[in-house]
Amino acid sequence: MIGFVDSGVGGLAVLRETRALLPDADILYLADQANAPYGMQTLEEVRGFAEQATLWLVGQGAETVVVACNTASAAALGHIRARHPEVRFVGMEPAVKPAVAATRSGVVGVLATPATFSATVFDDLVGRYSAGIDVIAHPCPGWARAVEDGWPDAEPAITAHLAPLLEAGVDTLVIACTHYSFLDDAIARAAPGVTVIDPAAAVARQVARVADTAGAGVTTYVTTGDPTRFAAQILRLLGATAEVAAVG
Ligand code: DGL
Repeated sequence: MIGFVDSGVGGLAVLRETRALLPDADILYLADQANAPYGMQTLEEVRGFAEQATLWLVGQGAETVVVACNTASAAALGHIRARHPEVRFVGMEPAVKPAVAATRSGVVGVLATPATFSATVFDDLVGRYSAGIDVIAHPCPGWARAVEDGWPDAEPAITAHLAPLLEAGVDTLVIACTHYSFLDDAIARAAPGVTVIDPAAAVARQVARVADTAGAGVTTYVTTGDPTRFAAQILRLLGATAEVAAVG
């Protein structure tokens, strides 16, 4: 069985891509909404949440754990990999390398939570791959929570927030928070002509490479928050009717 964890709905974007590739896999999706948003907390706190989530998913029988959250991956992936050598992990990392390959203007913007930028992973990727390209870290505080809540008129706020990047000459934007995948249309409209790189599909392909893909094609959703609210979010974002269980 494949376990997924995110602070909330962001990982559903990776789940959607994974389900399209692996119709028969059994998937258990844990939304840690009682502790969300991760991106405004310390890396140490997020590491604790990721460790708890991993223990719970493994206890339920997950052999592969998809950390469908850039913040938790940046804070905890190395740590949980070392502590659970029996588990296959798939995590998220800012797609700096493909963005550097794609840019023509030589200026790339990365959209992520403040916590993701405070981890060493981002600086390491820039050090390894930027090769003379200007890679601008652009934290988007509040966006993950807004996606959780539905954010009816996201576009003006997104347009205003991205304006400094466009002024700086950015022609390529990296979505480095899974929640922002659900803002892709609004981001594309706010940044016309800019290439937007969302790694969700590439991560799903990695899941397909490493995970056990046989099963009955069942998706089970659980949340540490309010199950009724999470069921409504799944319906809004995936168009799927789901039963959601609460976990402590
Ligand atoms: N979906 C998450 C990420 O990819 C975390 C958002 C949050 O809880 O702040 O970073």
